[in-house]
Amino acid sequence: MEYPQVTPFPSGFLWGASTSAYQVEGAWNEEGKGPSVIDKAVFNAELSDFKVTSDHYHHLEQDVALFAELGLKTYRFSLSWARLFPQGTGELNLAGAAFYDRLITLLVQYHIEPLVTLYHFDLPWALQEKGGWSDPATIDAFERYARMAFERYGDRVKYWLTINEQNMMILKGEVIGTLPPGTPDPQKALYQQNHHMMLAQARAMIACHQMLPTAKIGPAPNISCVYPASARPEDVLAANNFSAIRNWLYLDLACYGTYNAVAWSFMREKGYLPTVTEQEMALLRAGKPDFIAFNYYASATVGAEQSAHAREQGEPTRAVDQQLAGIDTRVYAGMNNPFLKRNQFNWYIDPVGFRITAREIYERYRLPLIVTENGLGAFDTLEAGNKVYDDYRIAYLRQHLEQLQLAISDGVEVFGYCPWSAIDLVSTHQGIGKRYGFIYVNRDEKDLKDLARYKKKSFAWYQQVIASGGQNL
Ligand code: BG6
Repeated sequence: MEYPQVTPFPSGFLWGASTSAYQVEGAWNEEGKGPSVIDKAVFNAELSDFKVTSDHYHHLEQDVALFAELGLKTYRFSLSWARLFPQGTGELNLAGAAFYDRLITLLVQYHIEPLVTLYHFDLPWALQEKGGWSDPATIDAFERYARMAFERYGDRVKYWLTINEQNMMILKGEVIGTLPPGTPDPQKALYQQNHHMMLAQARAMIACHQMLPTAKIGPAPNISCVYPASARPEDVLAANNFSAIRNWLYLDLACYGTYNAVAWSFMREKGYLPTVTEQEMALLRAGKPDFIAFNYYASATVGAEQSAHAREQGEPTRAVDQQLAGIDTRVYAGMNNPFLKRNQFNWYIDPVGFRITAREIYERYRLPLIVTENGLGAFDTLEAGNKVYDDYRIAYLRQHLEQLQLAISDGVEVFGYCPWSAIDLVSTHQGIGKRYGFIYVNRDEKDLKDLARYKKKSFAWYQQVIASGGQNL
């Protein structure tokens, strides 16, 4: 659909930017913080320094002042569960709690709405050692942690996110650290963990509504629209299967409190079915989100049979990336998409897919949407005068905002946009070399240099986008 005039971004639109605790804070063992699964992941230590990351913990005032200069209306960040409860449960670490008090108070002073993720991949190691999400006791620990956060910060925080990219943790559990490598029957274990996380999320949503009647809370999965590799009905079916397993399983549980029928049949067929009680399903139905937050980087394309398609297209099938996480070639096959360009890390760039994704989510659930991640990872170069000319990032964000505005024109209710990331931070899988921020942090993978902050060209661009309420893209 084309419009002679697109609908403006709504007034009060939450122009924002995102980070997560383990990727930006550093201070990994300071002032009482306990280790998380991320601190223990061997591949992280080999890849990059995850102990200091962007050292936001020690640059708090400077960073928030820069966010204010950027003009952010909201800042999405996560609380480090292990900074607050070093053992995952038990005693609150007051120094850790005070750090988030300072951050939230600063944001409020600058009129930046805090948007708080309770849990972004970094489960306290003490809980992991006791079985992590395989142990139902982690559900209780999460609820207790969430209640503490609502009680302590609820006077200043109106918007809450439960769990970041639960679907990625399940689909790539062994990579992210959700499941220890070598766990027997890993897929079955992961789907049981998924069920436990859903229960934890439902309890947090119920607690939030009880404790903070004017606050709003929602899930934050990674959602990508899925294209069939061709109009062949088998390919369309494969795309449909993948979308159910990758996307809707998670949102159907969060929004309707029901298991997606196709995903359920897939788990039954493969022997992955979680143990589920009627009481638990009642809890899932009772926990309701106020909105849906979603992260989008690119679309996915799948076909029915990898080998047949590879032959037809005369090109190799696609390597598994974030969009194709959890690919099960017995059900669908990740395919190349000749209509899309790729970034330096081989991820597709698909702004139109962003519009399609927003429409699909809204049509299914009819809840307001906020984008909590979208961005371009790239090898930035620091030029003379400490300049970074990241025109490629501006182009990516501009194209995605244009498509988001078209989605709004289509009738999709969107109340905010938080690109990844507010400031450079360590990528989950590809180190600090894969930068996403509006603000450059002067360090390399292992050489921490002076960690100075420099505004990139995209900083000035986004600043005027926000100042114009999205009129000057
Ligand atoms: C999302 C995560 O999966 O994508 C972030 O929520 C992550 O933590 C981001 O950093 C980009 O992925 P990557 O692998 O490029 O860091």
